[in-house]
Amino acid sequence: MVDKQAIEAAREHFGKLLERQLARIERIKADKGWTDYAKVKPIIVGVLGGDGIGPFIAAEMQRVLEMLLKEDIANGKIKFRIIEGLTIENRAKHLKAIPDDVLAEIRECHVTLKGPTTTPERGDGWPNIESANVAMRKELDLFANIRPVRIPKEGIDWMFYRENTEDIYAVGLEGTMVTPDLAVDFRVISRPGSERIIDAAFNYAKENDKTVTVVTKANIIKTTDGLFLDMAREVAKRYPGIKWEGWYIDIMTAKLIDPARRRDYQVIVLPNLYGDILTDEAAQMQGGVGTAGSANVGKKFAMFEAIHGSAPRMVREDRAQYADPSSMIRAGAMMLEHIGYKELGKKLHQALDICGQYEKKMVMTGRSTGATGKELGDYLMATVQDPKLESRWQEYVYA
Ligand code: IPM
Ligand code: MG
Repeated sequence: MVDKQAIEAAREHFGKLLERQLARIERIKADKGWTDYAKVKPIIVGVLGGDGIGPFIAAEMQRVLEMLLKEDIANGKIKFRIIEGLTIENRAKHLKAIPDDVLAEIRECHVTLKGPTTTPERGDGWPNIESANVAMRKELDLFANIRPVRIPKEGIDWMFYRENTEDIYAVGLEGTMVTPDLAVDFRVISRPGSERIIDAAFNYAKENDKTVTVVTKANIIKTTDGLFLDMAREVAKRYPGIKWEGWYIDIMTAKLIDPARRRDYQVIVLPNLYGDILTDEAAQMQGGVGTAGSANVGKKFAMFEAIHGSAPRMVREDRAQYADPSSMIRAGAMMLEHIGYKELGKKLHQALDICGQYEKKMVMTGRSTGATGKELGDYLMATVQDPKLESRWQEYVYA
């Protein structure tokens, strides 16, 4: 028997959801210029420790950045601001992904660096609050999740442009149990939302003389992925010199581990969930998700974060001081590049490569058999200040 009442309730729910989405699309269209950091003084850099090992690795990242930016901190161009309260305990207490006072402070910063935050899942004892990452991306409209993965020895230099505010994530909390037997989630892809991420990817490709791969499953998911691919065709017309191809997510996942093909990919642009999955696969090839940083960029705000979780077990077992701060520091290097310190950012990336992939004077094991985060921080600071940094890096990479 058809449950008319259940269908009516679902229909109403769906109607409200669409209203909110259409309003969001209007906001995207109204959002024009990018922040010009050269003109901003002071640039306020918020530091959100997050929970679990977050505050430990964030502290190391801050120590390294404060050393690199010493001069501009002294002359008032840069200001660090610690923001407390983005912990799972405080978020659960307020039943909010981001408590209001924390969000207000975040909005006062131009960019933030964020440690990992625990994301509750059904049945784990925490209230069903939205992931702080996802909430921040949506609240601040950080539509581009930019994730570089580089394995120079193998000629791999990938730049992922993951759409960060739409797809199944846009309304992940707003699915509906139509009846106890039928669960429905909603996938949202918009024209302006697709356009801006694809344009950002093509623009990056143009500036760096690279090709673009657009990943969808448009042969099956015809409406939403179909629109994303259509937008790629449209945007590509504005970049006549840029070579691009469409690929399906399933074969892309396979080709990423095909030694004969994988170095051909350069800039990869894709909807949110495919990007979530493919970037974990890519990061694992680089040495694990702990080695990758991630930039969440919007026109007005930007947030930089580690892409791994908060490892609460390490804290419970009193091992937080052994947590590897590399991905958080990578995020710091991306932040430097984003706000205009291209050279400093590059040096920090090189120091991270040397310390983490090549020279490896110390190993991080996550326990007392390895180095502490602070020891690694000291090692990185010494490396990044070495006048021979560039040639050391070149020797390793092109050995
Ligand atoms: C990521 C993470 C997040 C995501 C989680 C923690 C919400 O996996 O940044 O890739 O799914 O986007
Ligand atoms: Mg992920």
